Amino acid sequence: MNIAVIGTGYVGLVTGVCLSDLGHNVTCIDIDEKKVEKLNNGKSPIYEEGLEELLEKNLRQERLTFTTDYTRGLAQKQLVYIAVGTPQGDDGSADLTYVNAACRDIASHLENDAVIVTKSTVPVGTNEHIKETIEANLVNDVSISVASNPEFLRQGSAVHDTFRGDRIVIGSNDEEALELLEKVNAGFRLPIVKTDLRSAEMIKYASNAFLATKISFINEMANLSEKIGANIDHVAKGMGMDKRIGESFLNAGIGFGGSCFPKDTRAIISIGRNVENDMPILENVVDVNERQRSIIVDKLHKRVTDLSNKKVAVLGLSFKPNTDDMREAPSIDVTEKLLDKNAEVVAYDPVATENAKEVLSNKVHYATSIEKAVQDADVAIILTEWKEIKNFPLHEYKARMKEALVFDGRNCFTLDQVKNSGVEYHSIGRPV
Ligand code: UGA
Repeated sequence: MNIAVIGTGYVGLVTGVCLSDLGHNVTCIDIDEKKVEKLNNGKSPIYEEGLEELLEKNLRQERLTFTTDYTRGLAQKQLVYIAVGTPQGDDGSADLTYVNAACRDIASHLENDAVIVTKSTVPVGTNEHIKETIEANLVNDVSISVASNPEFLRQGSAVHDTFRGDRIVIGSNDEEALELLEKVNAGFRLPIVKTDLRSAEMIKYASNAFLATKISFINEMANLSEKIGANIDHVAKGMGMDKRIGESFLNAGIGFGGSCFPKDTRAIISIGRNVENDMPILENVVDVNERQRSIIVDKLHKRVTDLSNKKVAVLGLSFKPNTDDMREAPSIDVTEKLLDKNAEVVAYDPVATENAKEVLSNKVHYATSIEKAVQDADVAIILTEWKEIKNFPLHEYKARMKEALVFDGRNCFTLDQVKNSGVEYHSIGRPV
């Protein structure tokens, strides 16, 4: 199959590379010349395990290429994927500026019939709008149909999730488009859910909203467990063994961040608002998540009432481990709150420091190792469960800090590990 992918951001690049690996001929189009050149030389602008190897392999086997030229990129393509960003607009809704631009570019350059497939997370109804926009601007006498094929990739395991995901969702109101997409995806050998356009768009939002709900739910249970003397780790384990509940996404902590859950939960609430449909559960999911970020600082403040000029080591800044992504990372709020209390903040992250410098206050200092961050610190706060942070021995806190006082926002240590370590340890949802 001949395929074009518009946008070589996170989703577009992984989609293009993986489709070419199935044996399809893929051309990825992006306006960023430097990026395109880098990609044609086999260098990935993002780090994802296994991605660069697949990129190099498929470039070498001449099934994959990158271009800034729409005419060349779209020539003789049966499928055109739209995989551009849909950032959050001022009112919480998804901003479709890039999607609309992609539609106009397709309309001006498409020279043959094609199915336009949307990968980007877009509000319900957007695919119909995409069809109308392209059709209204078509320069050549060609016909198009549209389909939705949402992605369910997690950052840090995108290639794995593409080949080993739980399902592939394809939605279209055109039977032929559905058949074509089914053929394109057959090589992944994953269960395929075929549905109409609007249901496919809704599946993406509903899935992310449900996972976000699971996280806020377990955080609410954690806050209660702590107050009544239960241990949330045991509670989550006992709950998760019920297959109807499932064990994943029951890790209590300081809440969800990243480029998807915060944006998509707000976007679905905004979709509801537009049709006068209240979303009380999701409003509270967002609210619980925002409050969860304060909990760790409130606990610290209760224990150390005057934080002025106290050295606080912040361990982990990215929104989750194995990524340098700082978008909506809980560390942004937490460091802000610590600085408000006049603490001296020294942060350490294995890879996100450069990105952190762009978004955190310039009053934050950065250390180049955990050892240096905690040296002579009054308090340490763990915000991201990097392996390196989980493996940092507790006795090192004891040896290096002024007072071994650790607040763990990601429950990196079991209470058994902490017992007899000499560290005063506070975590989420567990007895002190
Ligand atoms: C999420 C979804 O998991 C993907 O299926 C989806 O495709 C993607 O959004 C998207 O819409 O593009 P991602 O944001 O990369 O993926 O990261 P997750 O691994 O889902 O973690 C999101 C946040 O939830 C992180 O801040 C993480 O720390 C937090 N989390 C996750 C918890 O606090 N507890 C958990 O048990 C799990």
